[in-house]
Amino acid sequence: MNPEEIRTRVFGEHEKIRGIIDEIDDLNKRFGRDEDVGAEIREVGVGLYEIFAAHLALEDSLLAPALEKISDRGPALAERLMREHSEQRAMLTYLLRRLEEQGRPTALVSNELRSFCEYLRRDMKHEEDTILDLGLRPDA
Ligand SMILES: [Fe+2]
Ligand SMILES: [Fe+2]
Repeated sequence: MNPEEIRTRVFGEHEKIRGIIDEIDDLNKRFGRDEDVGAEIREVGVGLYEIFAAHLALEDSLLAPALEKISDRGPALAERLMREHSEQRAMLTYLLRRLEEQGRPTALVSNELRSFCEYLRRDMKHEEDTILDLGLRPDA
């Protein structure tokens, strides 16, 4: 894949992840209106974590090597990307365990998911503004 194809692929996955986050927002709103959506929130939450884990693997295998080759500052960008990803994997493991914990109140699950979604939105935007927009363009 060339850099442009990699950008398109990563952007596409970000859009898919944003779609799931929107779904979680809706569920959280319904939960706020006292609707019984606990099981659905957990299910969509687990789905989000799984898709994000796969996304990290894709970026590690496609994006990091592409960054390394792109320019002098490529290796530093790639290293930062991998470091952030390993932190994010630790976060995912922790959150997934909390999500699947038996008897955990939905209010807590919903709060944690909400803040993880906020974090993800910022992370994807940041990645798009820095690495994808600048780092992956040789002439930028
Ligand atoms: Fe990433
Ligand atoms: Fe990403």
